Amino acid sequence: MKATDLRGILEYSARFRDKIFVLNVDSEVLAADNFHNLLLDISVLRSLNIKIVLVHGASHQIRILSQEMNVPASDMGGMGITDEPTLRLAILAANRLAHEILEGLSDTDQRAVVSNAIIAHPAGILNGVDQQWTGQVERVDGDFLKRLLEAGIIPVISPLGFDGNGKTYRVNSDGVALEVSEALKAEKLMFLSTSNGLRSAGKLSAQFSVEECRNFLRDHRSALPPEMTSKLEHGIRACENGVSRVHIIDGRQDEALLTEIFSSEGIGTMIHANEYVAIRSAKKKDAGVIQDLIRESVATQQLLPRTRKEIARDIADFYVFEIDNTVVGCVGLKLYRDATPSAAELECLFVSDAHANQGIGRKLMLFVEDRARSLGCKQLLALSTQAFNYFQQKGGFREATPDMLPHERRLKYDQSGRNSKILLKDLS
Ligand SMILES: CC(C)(COP(=O)(O)OP(=O)(O)OC[C@H]1O[C@@H](n2cnc3c(N)ncnc32)[C@H](O)[C@@H]1OP(=O)(O)O)[C@@H](O)C(=O)NCCC(=O)NCCS
Repeated sequence: MKATDLRGILEYSARFRDKIFVLNVDSEVLAADNFHNLLLDISVLRSLNIKIVLVHGASHQIRILSQEMNVPASDMGGMGITDEPTLRLAILAANRLAHEILEGLSDTDQRAVVSNAIIAHPAGILNGVDQQWTGQVERVDGDFLKRLLEAGIIPVISPLGFDGNGKTYRVNSDGVALEVSEALKAEKLMFLSTSNGLRSAGKLSAQFSVEECRNFLRDHRSALPPEMTSKLEHGIRACENGVSRVHIIDGRQDEALLTEIFSSEGIGTMIHANEYVAIRSAKKKDAGVIQDLIRESVATQQLLPRTRKEIARDIADFYVFEIDNTVVGCVGLKLYRDATPSAAELECLFVSDAHANQGIGRKLMLFVEDRARSLGCKQLLALSTQAFNYFQQKGGFREATPDMLPHERRLKYDQSGRNSKILLKDLS
């Protein structure tokens, strides 16, 4: 490990101190080789005073027990009907798993308890079919869990719910994790699954706003495995009800949990409540950040060189794209008062490599376009040496000629010798 990694973690530790993370660990992850490492990673989080609630699934172990004991299970995935023999398998599997988790947490010096904080009632009759011992979470005993967390204890929560009459029901762990996150106003709900986030056309979809995630589900539902659909649906609900971020990562992968939490680019898919990703006006203190951000692109002649002083002088023209309080992109909008028709230039559009291909460039482009329109501009210009196809293909610009530049800009263009391509978009 590099000493600089520790500095990186410091940046997050103040932000996450005393915050609650709900980890929902899939049953396959509990059976994987990496599980011991995962428990060590939980110890790292606890050492930073992050409060952890561990919710776990049991379907993988129910499947194994069903074969070993030759007892057919009425449902394997935790989303269907639970008959009495399957409930007995579920209780056996959940208790064994909880015990293994307690053993592992003891091995890493963590205090933990298995609780009965999930209050459930029967799911009842759905579409005319009795769901038998499948339960629905009625409420979470949040006070009880909070007291455990205050005492530095990790609550371990099995996919079982209890009613007020001493009966047990099998409940879906994604649903339990959601209810627990809401009840505790968790900072993060993290699904440690067997899939490293969501892929669309082979590419990782690293970040979704709630709105984008909802649209994605609408368009791709039939192609997604039911486990992923469940995580996305529960993730959306969590974000709508006060959880800031939901993450889906592969819990079998070494270091996945820590990488997702302690790096701004993460490793899996994150769904964020809408306030999380934001474009905001740049402030004076961002001048140095913007200069550092675009340094590489200036060196490769993609962007015009700008000193820190120049950026600070023109800071009112700049907007930045922030993720997790880190600036990952920027754009400028310069108005040309001498132009007829009235025009503005989109300048200094940049997105860091770690966040490329996530639509951030397009969002910045659209933002500036809307802004120019609202300021009464009829044309938006952009000058580019290496991204002219981008502006045409992704931004709807067309190629223009230098004589279409406003007078003041034309002079600078001729002096620079950069010979950039000129792109234009009519704003209606
Ligand atoms: C151009 C830039 C802003 C794109 O940002 P981004 O957030 O990665 O872009 P988006 O996610 O909105 O779009 C990604 C798409 O654009 C394409 N793209 C990215 N850069 C491109 C370029 N220079 N030329 C053509 N297409 C490009 C990607 O291949 C991807 O295509 P796909 O959607 O078909 O897979 C970024 O690459 C950058 O900062 N470049 C260096 C600075 C620069 O040239 N700025 C423009 C001058 S002002």
